[in-house]
Amino acid sequence: MWFGNSLAPAEDGTVNGTLDLLGETKRLLLRAPQERDLKEIADLWTDPRATEHIGGPRDRDMVLDSFREYAADPYACAQDEGERWWSIVEPSSGQLVGLCALLDKEIDGQIETELGYFLLPAHWGRGYATEAARPVVEHALSELGLESLVAIIHPENAPSVGVARKLGMEFDRQLLRPDGVVRHLYRSRR
Ligand SMILES: CC(C)(COP(=O)(O)OP(=O)(O)OC[C@H]1O[C@@H](n2cnc3c(N)ncnc32)[C@H](O)[C@@H]1OP(=O)(O)O)[C@@H](O)C(=O)NCCC(=O)NCCS
Repeated sequence: MWFGNSLAPAEDGTVNGTLDLLGETKRLLLRAPQERDLKEIADLWTDPRATEHIGGPRDRDMVLDSFREYAADPYACAQDEGERWWSIVEPSSGQLVGLCALLDKEIDGQIETELGYFLLPAHWGRGYATEAARPVVEHALSELGLESLVAIIHPENAPSVGVARKLGMEFDRQLLRPDGVVRHLYRSRR
């Protein structure tokens, strides 16, 4: 079982390099969040539709503060908080369309790594989430050496279930989260 403290960067710098730039897919670029992404990131986390199944709109200033801090030092946040975020960018426009993440979470007393994918609604329905999340899954299971990866999904979030299934994740179990909400756990194994 892999635990959060193995987030330490690899000696050869591979993991550091990956945090800066995870790679390019056919249509998208995955790189560390930057100052110039902050407006779109805040738009995403304050959007009622985008956050409908993930806890509702957040406070804009709080989002700006935490992503500004992340952008300033992604390595420290990966190391200290067990959080790795990548901006999903359309290379042609340089615009942020969403975010992908690997987040350490305690689930039923175990530290698991959660895969997160979040898009601004203008970019839904084009297969972007699946395309962007695929290299994140590969990175987690190969370079980071995780044995498995989970997605924690609101039972009514059909598009998210669609993405998880297209990524090869399977329904694992129903969860009752500490705040009393029910979620479905999907899992991908190495
Ligand atoms: C979930 C989310 C990332 C999906 O992004 P997306 O790029 O539109 O997803 P994709 O186009 O890659 O694929 C979604 C799949 O779900 C399916 N889907 C979409 N809406 C659906 C619905 N209402 N019912 C059933 N399936 C649906 C799609 O048909 C697609 O599958 P297909 O390619 O086999 O047709 C996007 O809706 C989003 O950002 N939502 C808000 C944030 C969020 O909830 N994130 C997930 C946290 S667990």
